[in-house]
Amino acid sequence: MVSRVIPVDPFDLVIFGGTGDLARRKILPGLFRRFCAGQMPENARIIGAARQDLDDDGYRKMVGEAIEEFGKVGKVDKKALKAFQKQLHYVAVDAKGDGGWDALGKLLRDEEEEVVRAFYFSVGPSLFPDLAERIRSHGLAHAGVRIVVEKPFGHDLESARELNEELARHFNERQIYRIDHYLGKETVQNLMAVRFGNMLFEPLWNAQYVDHIQITVAETVGVGGRGPYYDKSGAMRDMVQNHLMQLLCLIAMEPPARFDPDAVRDEKLKVIRALDPVDPDSIVRGQYTSDGEANSYREDVENPLSKTESFIALKCYISNWRWANTPFYLRTGKRLNSRASEIAVVFKETPHSIFGIDSGRHRNVLSIRLQPNEGMTLGVTIKEPGPGGMRLIDVPLDMSFADALGPEAEEVTDAYERLIMDVIRGNQTLFMRGDEVEAAWSWTDPLIEGWERRGDSPKPYDAGSAGPDDAAFLINKDGRRWRGIKS
Ligand code: NDP
Ligand code: BG6
Repeated sequence: MVSRVIPVDPFDLVIFGGTGDLARRKILPGLFRRFCAGQMPENARIIGAARQDLDDDGYRKMVGEAIEEFGKVGKVDKKALKAFQKQLHYVAVDAKGDGGWDALGKLLRDEEEEVVRAFYFSVGPSLFPDLAERIRSHGLAHAGVRIVVEKPFGHDLESARELNEELARHFNERQIYRIDHYLGKETVQNLMAVRFGNMLFEPLWNAQYVDHIQITVAETVGVGGRGPYYDKSGAMRDMVQNHLMQLLCLIAMEPPARFDPDAVRDEKLKVIRALDPVDPDSIVRGQYTSDGEANSYREDVENPLSKTESFIALKCYISNWRWANTPFYLRTGKRLNSRASEIAVVFKETPHSIFGIDSGRHRNVLSIRLQPNEGMTLGVTIKEPGPGGMRLIDVPLDMSFADALGPEAEEVTDAYERLIMDVIRGNQTLFMRGDEVEAAWSWTDPLIEGWERRGDSPKPYDAGSAGPDDAAFLINKDGRRWRGIKS
C-alpha cells in the first residue's frame, strides 16, 4: 500500500544541539526519511546550532555520517542524501552567551516570506530558559514561531512549573511543543483510531467489562552513556511520569468531541487528575545487577551506593465512573529479557459458561503492541476443531501493521519524524500541554517523596530477567499475571 504524503509548508528549523546524540540518532535521520518521502519542500532549511566550530560543509558531512549510521533506511540513496545535505546549514551559537546569534538571525528568513520558523531545543534541560530568553532578546521570536522542547520537562512539580513560567514569559502555549515521543508512535495513534473509529470497542471500554489493563514498556538496554542524568531520575521520572502516563491517558480518557489539540488534551488531563494516590505496597522498584558479562546498574552509573530504580511496577486506580475499581498495572524497566512494549486490555470472563466447567473460563484480551512488530491482536474464544465435545480455545485475531499494510508501514513509523512534521504543520495534538505535565508531576511527586522519606532501596534483579520477583507478586496476588514479556 502506498502511503499518501502531503508536503508541508517551507520552513526554517533550527536544531539547538544539532550535533548531539539525539539529533544525530533520531532527529536528522528522521528528517532525511521525510525528505526521501517527498514531504520536505525544496526550500525548507535545517539549521544545526551548537557551540562547536563548524561550517556548513562540516555539518553536512557530520549529518551524512549520522544518517549512514542511524538512518534505518537500508542502503542510503547517495543522490538523495546529497540533495538533502544541500538543505542543511550550521551556525555556531552559545545558548549561554551572545556569540553566534546575529549570524543565526541573518540566516533566518523574514516572517513576510511565509516560512514556518521552529526552534528545536535538543540540548540539556538547564539550557531551555537560556534559549527561550535569547531567541526573544535577539529578535528571532516573531508571532508565528514555534519551539520544540525535549524531555525531561522538569524534575518535579516545582521545577516543571518554573520552566512553564519561564517559557511563558517569551512564548504563548500555542507556540510550545513539549515532546513525548511515545505520542508519535504509530500504534499509539492507532489506539485512538481503534477506540474512536469503531463501534466495536467503546461500549465495552469500562469497568463493567474490563477486568484490568496492563501497560508494559520493557527494554533490554541499560542506561548507556546517560548515567549521570538517569541516576538522578530513575524509571519513575524517566518513563512513568511521561511515556507510561501518556499511554494510560489515551487508554482511559473519555472520547474527545473532536480530534483537535485542546479537546484531546483536556480529556487526558481529566484522567491524570482522577488518578488515586498509590499505596506504597502497590509499588515495586528494582535495580539491575550484573549478569556476569554486562555491568550492573551501579557500575553503569558509577555510583556504588545508588538507590535509583531502573525498574518500576505499580498498580493504580482511576476514580471516575468509567474506571472505578479497575486496576491499571504499569511496568517498565531496563536490562530486561526482551524489548517489548504492550498495552493489554483484559476483559472480564463471560458471566456464565453454558459449556460447563471442562471447557474452562476464557477472557478476551486486546493487545496493542507498540514495539517491536507494531500491531494489535484480539484474543477470541472459539471451539477447538474436531470431534470430542465442546472444548474452547483462545485464538488471536491478529493485525500486524507490516502484514496488513505492507513494508511501507514500517518505514513511516518513526515517532520523531512524524512529530517534527506536526510542528511544521502547527498541530499540537500529539504534544503535551503545560498543565498536563504539571498534573503528571503532582501525581508522581508524592510517590517519589514517599520512598525517599522511608529510605527504601530498590530490589535487585538479574540483568536479562523479567525484573524483581516482587513485581510478579504484585499482580499474582490479585489472581492475575503479567503478559508481554517472558516471566
Ligand atoms: P548531547 O550531550 O549528546 O548533546 C548536547 C548538544 O547540545 C550538543 O550538540 C552540544 O554541542 C549542545 N550544547 C551544549 N551546550 C551548549 C550551549 N551552551 N550552547 C549551544 N549548544 C550547546 O545530548 P543529547 O542529544 O543526548 O540530549 C539532548 C536533549 O534531548 C536533552 O534534553 C535530553 O534529555 C533529550 N533526550 C535525549 C535522548 C537521547 O536518546 N539522547 C532521549 C530523549 C530525550 P556543543 O557542546 O558543541 O555546544
Ligand atoms: C526515553 C528515555 O525517553 O525513552 C530512555 O529517556 C528510554 O531512557 C527511551 O530508553 C525509550 O524509547 P523507545 O522509543 O526506544 O521505547
